[in-house]
Amino acid sequence: MIVLGIETSCDETAVSIVSGRKVLSEKIYSQEVHAKYGGVVPELASRDHIKKLFPLTREAFSDAGLAPQDIEGVAVSAGPGLPGALLVGTTFAKGLATALNIPIIAINHLEGHIFIIRLLYDLPTPFLALLVSGGHTELVLVKEWGEYDVLGTTRDDAAGEAFDKAAKALGLPYPGGPSIEKLAKNGNPNAFEFPRAMLKSGDLDFSFSGLKTALINMLRKLKKNEVENRLADIAASFQEAVVDSLIVKLADAVKLTGTKNVALVGGVAANERLREKVSELGVKLYAPPKKYCTDNATMIACAGEFYLEKGVSSPLTFSIKPNWGLQ
Ligand code: KG4
Ligand code: ZN
Repeated sequence: MIVLGIETSCDETAVSIVSGRKVLSEKIYSQEVHAKYGGVVPELASRDHIKKLFPLTREAFSDAGLAPQDIEGVAVSAGPGLPGALLVGTTFAKGLATALNIPIIAINHLEGHIFIIRLLYDLPTPFLALLVSGGHTELVLVKEWGEYDVLGTTRDDAAGEAFDKAAKALGLPYPGGPSIEKLAKNGNPNAFEFPRAMLKSGDLDFSFSGLKTALINMLRKLKKNEVENRLADIAASFQEAVVDSLIVKLADAVKLTGTKNVALVGGVAANERLREKVSELGVKLYAPPKKYCTDNATMIACAGEFYLEKGVSSPLTFSIKPNWGLQ
């Protein structure tokens, strides 16, 4: 089935066309307008999506050598995400589905991150997915495609958010994860002590806000030139603390479920230190190429194809769900 996927939940405008778990074309525009603010500005995101969505869709059709009439279904990210940004994508998708008289399906963005695994690998269910992004940190047992047990989640900040806030405090560019990872490559991960929260909480939940506070307190105590000279060590130590906090709970989940197949998805899954430490757990790691870790429309089209082929679709009256969870 030829499915057009649309993703506009945050600061990526993306359009992909997928058929039979194969990518026919994919277009993505990462908004640059937010960089100078150190984080995503919702109103600017919506306006930029409006500008870019139409031309990107045109290019996606042209790259795939298809006309709009060739599309058999539309899949769109309907939440979680920024309300204005989601409205741009879903309204556009509804218009397209109406004009072409084809089914539409509202896709949960988090589920999309997991579905990229189905496109890339023949991974049997059940498996564990660690979904780590700028807005979410979820440890999920994928019982079957479309059936999830959320085993753990963050009590406060998401893992990517921790990287973004730390980068801002250190004066590094947004998004923070790649900036910190780059610096950390030349730093000592044991140079500074950062807390690993929730280790004894007796559940599989995470917490990252204490880590951010610890960094801010530490920066207050250091002299400016000390911070500048030891930036790589600070970045490496901070990254290690985020990664360790994730690894401990993932290891517990592997033990609890007896599942040795682990998928690492979401923007933070691009982090090489995290990948390395997951591999050291003795599990089989499924980590997508970086372009499929961060937000993209291929994952939305892929989830859409799965549901639409089963005859599942959404009414045209569906609403966005800015706080949509996995269950
Ligand atoms: O999945 P994503 O593109 O958007 C959301 O759904 O949130 O994830 C973006 C997040 C940002 O917080 C960014 O700092 C983080 O992923 N990120 C990374 C890396 N690349 C992106 N974090 C750590 N290391 C990276 N290499
Ligand atoms: Zn995402």
